[in-house]
Amino acid sequence: MSVYEKLTPVLTKRWLSPDAWRIDVYEQLDGYAAARKALKSHPDDLIALIKDSGLRGRGGAGFPTGLKWGFIPQNDGKPHYLVVNADEGEPGTCKDLPLMTHDPHSLVEGCIIASYAIRANRAYIYIRGEAVHAARRLRSAVAEAYKAGYLGKNIQGTGFDLDLVVHSGAGAYICGEETALLDSLEGFRGQPRLRPPFPATHGLYASPTVVNNVGTIASVPYIVLGGAAWWKSMGTEKSSGPMIYSLSGRINNPGQYECSMGITLRELIELAGGMQAGHQLKFWTPGGSSTPLLAAEHIDTALDFESVAAAGSILGTTATQIFSDQDCPVYATYRWLEFYHHESCGKCTPCREGNYWMVRVYRRILSGEGTYEDLDTLLDTADNILGRSFCGLGDGATSPVTSSLQYFKQDYLDYIERKKAPMLSAKALAGAH
Ligand code: NAI
Ligand code: SF4
Repeated sequence: MSVYEKLTPVLTKRWLSPDAWRIDVYEQLDGYAAARKALKSHPDDLIALIKDSGLRGRGGAGFPTGLKWGFIPQNDGKPHYLVVNADEGEPGTCKDLPLMTHDPHSLVEGCIIASYAIRANRAYIYIRGEAVHAARRLRSAVAEAYKAGYLGKNIQGTGFDLDLVVHSGAGAYICGEETALLDSLEGFRGQPRLRPPFPATHGLYASPTVVNNVGTIASVPYIVLGGAAWWKSMGTEKSSGPMIYSLSGRINNPGQYECSMGITLRELIELAGGMQAGHQLKFWTPGGSSTPLLAAEHIDTALDFESVAAAGSILGTTATQIFSDQDCPVYATYRWLEFYHHESCGKCTPCREGNYWMVRVYRRILSGEGTYEDLDTLLDTADNILGRSFCGLGDGATSPVTSSLQYFKQDYLDYIERKKAPMLSAKALAGAH
């Protein structure tokens, strides 16, 4: 079997069709057929269909989508909201941006179906501020959908009303955390709220709210048309359907590869044209930098939620960053930590202070001034951040630290024992104390 047969283009299938972002082209390619079908069904049947499909959130956590929709209280007299988290910001993650750029109507169509299922008459797409082109495409798609009668009052004569707003954020990583996102949408500084209560009961404007990732919502029209059994025919028993894997780093053809969940890293690297000449796989992230690094020995790990967890990491956003024997895990971890330190919202002490200090320890080690005690300090600091932070950002920041120390301690020792030339200059060290 050719490795290319491992590709299962579903969400990506229109990406190469010219002008698929225009409604006339989208409709020629089956577009809005699912919305027309769904609006003739009972909302509860749609929730049951999504539950049956086993669809799990594509934003990183993999929470069952149908279950989340089912949490929305019924007949509670409150407005309900759908909020699409399009604030993709996890380092290495780049699957939602091309989807919104090449196929924005699939997200609009998913919003219509999901809003109808959860009885919401208002939906928001919260998109990263930097994603200017994608936001432009989305706004144009929303305007086209209004004009064609897929949004607004009495959609397609069904009596269902839906307004959809595209809201651009201002580029803070923390606003991808769902409750910070809701605060930002309400006009406040984006900082995480205490959970529980979860947005399902106390979300936007304290009303029941479903917050779903772009890929999750864009999957819905395909499930409505193809059925739960078809969706489940791809992937594994507990991780159903296709997934967009974003491959970057030391491979010949970086990009988006949509395959059934459970494909292995070895197969993905083959799909991506193999490792670059002269490079041997050394370490990789299964799903962005917040997921523990894995090593070359994990190359045959199936990339589904359960198998990656069994290997000691998290599937996360399926942002698969590939590093080679010519890359340094200590330096990579330092760069990620600088990111977390910069993006920490400052609300809680373990994350705000812990990341600050860990960055300084890394600068010391990478400048050739590290000590053996620094390794204990890193582990101790990470231990005091993990599980003691207010939101997932703090926890995620510890992943590359502990996993790189687990698999690549010798790389740290090489700096400490002066066996390796310092990666950072004395100038960087000046900020380390
Ligand atoms: P989580 O597991 O706490 O929650 C996942 C979802 O399930 C949320 O929408 C939450 O409201 C809902 N939920 C969980 N338990 C619930 C309950 N008992 N009742 C009602 N709803 C419930 O995960 P979290 O903190 O929302 O997200 C963490 C993930 O985000 C990480 O795994 C990471 O991979 C990913 N991430 C993604 C980024 C991106 O750019 N896509 C950026 C940073 C992190
Ligand atoms: Fe803010 Fe970090 Fe605390 Fe999250 S863990 S609330 S980002 S300081």
